[in-house]
Amino acid sequence: MQEQIKNVNSLEELQSLYTSVFGKNGSMTLRLKEMSKMEPSARAELNKENAALREAFKIRQTELETAALNQKLKTEFVDVTLDIAPKNCGTIHPLTQTLLQIGTILESLGFEMWTGPEVEDDWHNFTALNTPSYHPARDMQDSFFLDNGNVLRTQTSAIQIRAMETHGVPIKMFGVGRTYRKEMDATHSPMFGQIEGLYVDKIDAHITMSDLVATIRTMLERFFEKKLEMRIRPSYFPFTEPSIEIDIKWGDKWLEIMGAGMVHPNVLRNCGVNPDEYQGFAFGFGWDRLAMLKFGLNDIRQFYDGDVRWLKNSGF
Ligand code: PHE
Repeated sequence: MQEQIKNVNSLEELQSLYTSVFGKNGSMTLRLKEMSKMEPSARAELNKENAALREAFKIRQTELETAALNQKLKTEFVDVTLDIAPKNCGTIHPLTQTLLQIGTILESLGFEMWTGPEVEDDWHNFTALNTPSYHPARDMQDSFFLDNGNVLRTQTSAIQIRAMETHGVPIKMFGVGRTYRKEMDATHSPMFGQIEGLYVDKIDAHITMSDLVATIRTMLERFFEKKLEMRIRPSYFPFTEPSIEIDIKWGDKWLEIMGAGMVHPNVLRNCGVNPDEYQGFAFGFGWDRLAMLKFGLNDIRQFYDGDVRWLKNSGF
């Protein structure tokens, strides 16, 4: 029997042999049943034989299991030192890179990032921003209106209203997101990204136009990693008073970069803030525009073509 056990070559065979010996009608089971009738010496002999057989089964089982495991380890071997097949690896889109860079700069200046819905209601996109119903910005030529009177957000200023409404003042935030206008040429896309900063605090915190200009200069110079020549022109926005536009010198040209100003008292009032107690500044710009300058592009549409070859070869 011992020999037979040693010669078994599979766990299944071992199991059936085991059953034939120790099963209900197994040879050893039957012999053990007769034990009470045996002489003590024969009993001792049988006990010994019984124990030896069980041990032999156990040993063979371990051997067979180990062999099976080794076989598996051999066939299922994974060489973790092999080089991986070259993957078609993506990169971060230049617009996203730009947003991350500007976002990081603004956060380091204490501004908190906010987002908001791209489909806006009249209140957040226009009315609360002191944009009267006759204002040209509402013109069907400029804005994408929905049948229910909502509009595809034309400016991220809408996020500033939401931020003041829900967070209250003092507040130091910037809204980021996609905005939509009916315009399309090499430097305008009907969908573009805007960033708008807002800083409102108590009157005695003395937030002034010079804080505004210094904030913008710091942000732009850190983003472009160089000193910039800046020009400030008086301008008009319904939601700021006074309003300015900021140009930077790029090569031998002045480029219009952003709008800004001191938040109009009506805007504060519309958000439940008393303009006799609080004041602040706001600024807003298209970040695609800044990305074009930084990456040296002359057609904004390339950003949105989704042409992987262009993204790969432009070294972004
Ligand atoms: N929302 C303005 C725009 O879309 C930019 C702006 C923001 C101007 C904040 C002044 C203050 O052009």
